[in-house]
Amino acid sequence: MPFNKDDAGRWVPVFPRHELGTAFAAGVWNIGPGGGRFAPAMRPVLSLEETLAGLKDAGCTHVEFHDTEAESADAEKIMAAVNNAGLKVHMCTANLFKRGPEFANGNFGSPVAATRAESVRRTKDYIRTGIEVFGAQVYVYWMSSNGFGGPFQVNYKDLYQQTADGLSEVVSWMLSEYGPERALPIAIEPKPNEPVSWGAPADCGETLAVISLMPDELRPFVGTNLETCHSLMAGKRYAAELGLAAAAGKCFYVHLNGGTGLKFDEDLAFGDNDFGVAVESVHTLQEIGYDTVVGIDVQPLSTDTAAQQNASIARSVRNFRRAREVAARIDAAELNALRARADRAGLSELYARILSGVDG
Ligand code: GLC
Ligand code: MN
Repeated sequence: MPFNKDDAGRWVPVFPRHELGTAFAAGVWNIGPGGGRFAPAMRPVLSLEETLAGLKDAGCTHVEFHDTEAESADAEKIMAAVNNAGLKVHMCTANLFKRGPEFANGNFGSPVAATRAESVRRTKDYIRTGIEVFGAQVYVYWMSSNGFGGPFQVNYKDLYQQTADGLSEVVSWMLSEYGPERALPIAIEPKPNEPVSWGAPADCGETLAVISLMPDELRPFVGTNLETCHSLMAGKRYAAELGLAAAAGKCFYVHLNGGTGLKFDEDLAFGDNDFGVAVESVHTLQEIGYDTVVGIDVQPLSTDTAAQQNASIARSVRNFRRAREVAARIDAAELNALRARADRAGLSELYARILSGVDG
């Protein structure tokens, strides 16, 4: 039962409970041959069956799909392969970025009315597949090209309002079709840039602002899917973004990975480059009581070989567990006392001690 009423009579999503670190999901797009504008393809293309087996081997219990990898028309067949692999579908998402040239300039907030309508249509279609065939638990809307690239490209007020309106149209339809009990929680995944120069929404704050532009009765059905690397690109502390989403009751899902800072969407393994980010993220997920499936959104490294198709995912799962062990070295009473005294020096000492495992 995806939505339940809380004591105050508000609809809140109910996600399947999994103790943190016992259930992981990754996308079929997280395994692949690589290649792109600046690199040759490195690895062979795998079949769906091989991809699912690779996800399972890497430690995943669940899988994620774009509608381009798992078209609604083939969903039954694909679901049989997922079942055969011993996996479940946790998340699904309509691809509003690679479908066609009309999506180069936005989707729900596009200045082109036909593109806005097509975005709504494709989203409804895949929500239907997610509910009826995949038994998915969350729907993600990644804004991709929604935003702008230069001066005067969009009417800014319309961009944000129309993005909210598109989501509202989807939620209204979903509620009339399935009712709150079967509705799929929608998680907006923000990113500050790439492919467009200014993505909208760009970060957790903008995501909450877009949700606030929706009518009261539709807002409970929409939350966030925050991604580590996207937050780093926005110059944010990922753990703080998680805290903001949780304070608003909107931390519906997470995409963990890694990056090197204000760069591009590197999709490194969780814990790569800055293991401290991983430790603080896991600790914060525990603090906010996140207890459902953990999403991993990583790409193989450009040097990964055919045998390493799923190495980034497997390393992310191991790093999650390593980070959880390191975070367990924190004595919550000591941490809270240091915070309450605003003792930054003491907090820095604690951080180095638990991260290095050396008392000093
Ligand atoms: C794309 C994005 C990724 C997002 C996914 C689902 O693959 O790169 O960050 O999570 O789509 O929307
Ligand atoms: Mn992601």
